Amino acid sequence: MTERKKTSLPDLFAKVTRGEPLSWLTAYDYPTAYFQEQAGVDMILVGDSLGMTMLGYDSTLPVTMDDMIRHTQAVRRGAPDTFVIGDMPYMSYQPSVETAVRNAGRFMAETGCDAVKLEGGAEMADRVTAIYQSGIPIFGHLGLTPQSASALGGFRLQGKGALQAKKIFDDAMALESAGAVCILLELIPDRLCKLITEEAQQTIIMSLGSGPDAHGQLLIYHDLFGLYPKFKPRMAKVYGDAGQVILNGLKEYVREVTANEFPQKEHYFGMKDEEFDQLLSLMT
Ligand code: KIV
Repeated sequence: MTERKKTSLPDLFAKVTRGEPLSWLTAYDYPTAYFQEQAGVDMILVGDSLGMTMLGYDSTLPVTMDDMIRHTQAVRRGAPDTFVIGDMPYMSYQPSVETAVRNAGRFMAETGCDAVKLEGGAEMADRVTAIYQSGIPIFGHLGLTPQSASALGGFRLQGKGALQAKKIFDDAMALESAGAVCILLELIPDRLCKLITEEAQQTIIMSLGSGPDAHGQLLIYHDLFGLYPKFKPRMAKVYGDAGQVILNGLKEYVREVTANEFPQKEHYFGMKDEEFDQLLSLMT
């Protein structure tokens, strides 16, 4: 096991100051979180993308606070020393400032996560400020924000045109002023991401499919390893086809059981003759 001290927010800012890019991945369960911590990932996002990657929904909208709490608790157990961010699900913060603070607090108290994330720009600034003033580190999320995919015209590049790009830039500045410690920029043009990163004074800027010029990179874990069968986004690099490895293994298991090749002697346990004889006598 790798020895490692718990990563704190100042540690993340220190890395940014030293010009060291931050690595960030999603995880939704104990074993994945465990491996990510062993690999030295800086931050783990328990994303509401779990609605699609783990629960099989077509969008993130059906995900509830209870779903998020359960999965974030599992990730915390697997990665006790990594900076873990809980993603606030649909309608857990949009209705009001009070709803947002209560659910952010629930996340922190019930899961032990280190920060929470919500989607949206200037219109969410009051929620961001209220959560920040409650002592909870708050992450923003701009560009392609999946909870608004319908309003944004689907899962597509945002900020292609100058006007929309300016709006995303202004939203980033509004979130920074509101107290966001980090802003994720998802699927916006690389030059817009660079502009925002250069302008940010006290906020960490992270890129998901928005180019190399942010303070670090986020990817969806399932995309790295071919584990989401419905869709393979262009922005994700595949580091191994675990999906194919698993499928091959499953087919082999079915074949071996069907052919009476599994189990072999080493896969099960026997019983002493005298114990077995006694068992038989007890049964007569
Ligand atoms: O839910 C999630 O994993 C996210 C990413 C798409 C950034 O919010």
